[in-house]
Amino acid sequence: MSTFSDNKKPHAVLIPYPAQGHINPLFKLAKLLHFKGFHITFVNTEYNHKRLLNSRGPNAFDGFTDFCFETIPDGLTPMEGDGDVTQDVPALCQSIRKNFLRPYCELLSRLDESANVGLIPHVTCLVSDCLMTFTIQAAEKFALPNVLFFPSSACSLLNVLYFRSFVEKGLTPLKDESYLTNGYLETKVDWIPGLKNFRLKDIIDYIRTTNPNDIMLEFFIDMADRVPRDSTVILNTFNEVESDVINVLLSMFPSLYPIGPLPSLLNQTPSNHQLNSLDSNLWKEDTKCLEWLESKEPGSVVYVNFGSITVMTLEQLLEFAWGLANSNKPFLWIIRPDLVIGGSVVLSSEFLNEISDRGLIASWCPQEKVLNHPSIGGFLTHCGWNSTTESICAGVPMLCWPFFADQPTNSRIICNEWEIGAEIDTNVKRDEVEKLVNELMVGEKGKKMRQKAMELKKKSLENTSPGGCSYKNLDKVIKEVLLKQN
Ligand code: UDX
Repeated sequence: MSTFSDNKKPHAVLIPYPAQGHINPLFKLAKLLHFKGFHITFVNTEYNHKRLLNSRGPNAFDGFTDFCFETIPDGLTPMEGDGDVTQDVPALCQSIRKNFLRPYCELLSRLDESANVGLIPHVTCLVSDCLMTFTIQAAEKFALPNVLFFPSSACSLLNVLYFRSFVEKGLTPLKDESYLTNGYLETKVDWIPGLKNFRLKDIIDYIRTTNPNDIMLEFFIDMADRVPRDSTVILNTFNEVESDVINVLLSMFPSLYPIGPLPSLLNQTPSNHQLNSLDSNLWKEDTKCLEWLESKEPGSVVYVNFGSITVMTLEQLLEFAWGLANSNKPFLWIIRPDLVIGGSVVLSSEFLNEISDRGLIASWCPQEKVLNHPSIGGFLTHCGWNSTTESICAGVPMLCWPFFADQPTNSRIICNEWEIGAEIDTNVKRDEVEKLVNELMVGEKGKKMRQKAMELKKKSLENTSPGGCSYKNLDKVIKEVLLKQN
């Protein structure tokens, strides 16, 4: 709880990478710091903030004491009709490197001016998504501590730190497209300490490129080069799920603080009630699905959601659709308006009739509430790290269909290390979906996965309750780094 008088409050400026899966966990951290007594400035891009206001209502963010929002432009050319869609990831990454430093520094100067006339407390620290490396320069310019937040798994951070070695070993870029299908990706990666039974196909998929100037590969190599080894890094993970990798990372970044899983840490921290109602979803939530779940048996519903960026072909969508229908299990499927590549989602009346009494389709939902609903028995997911940690916090086992980026890495640890999930082939077929859904919901394998998921839930609760490692790490990073200048 806050113990600072208003003009003496520490003031943290937080900036996420501008995408849903990065905004959500940093927003949770912002709420936690607010509760610990910080004045918060949360920085969105203009594009995302407009979406946030559209989805939450124009006044949703007004009137919060010591919790303010600021925006900076994203430098992208607005496209016709792009008001409510996920932006192009490589284009954003290029723009971040080129266009963000100046408006961000201008913002910090403006905040300084406001503080000089007593409107807000002086900025005392920055908390920045690891991908926003321009903040390192800004922190130097303004002589502020900058704590870096990596929103994905420890395993993924380790992958990225070794990207340059993949290039040096000639493992990426691939010689040609045939290397994607000729068995090459099964090659073992046994030379990175901490990774267990990893193959090339389990590494963050930006190495699966034939382009020597691949934007994403270059972006992450640049990130790894720019982050000084004496940086303070906060991770949304915890020892019981990634201890080996966390130990390796600790030898590279001695100032490392795993504080995850954040959903559980936030739930267990008694915070400001007014702020609790505030969340960071860029799409409007359909809450009717919660009522629908009330009508279902405990543990009976498959929840299907591919996050904010994954896209698929219409053929893949139909394989999922018929696999789910043929499984005869109730399901809640979130189909984002931009989920299908190059077109809108059209499901036949034959399919809709088939599932009418046991399938519900919605466009966006309050995912954490859904996952924690007693009717949910399994989660068919793309394995985004937030979805993964939210599923662990709810004790729900998973079917994994990793799409890109860190998702193959997450899927590998979910299925092979923690044994709380099973993977669906990239070339998804309805028979496989039907079989795996049945195994997950009523089979012996599903039962074992559920037990292990419940064990991880218990460990995550222990870690994030007072006295637990993650709980203590948050207090430590506040005391040892974020409040150091005060
Ligand atoms: C991406 C990457 O895939 C992820 O691995 C990386 O760590 C962050 O960026 P995304 O693909 O959107 O994110 O997936 P995920 O990490 O699961 O984040 C999605 C977030 O949106 C979750 O917090 C989830 O709860 C929320 N969500 C999603 C909803 O609240 N409702 C929905 O209907 C769908």
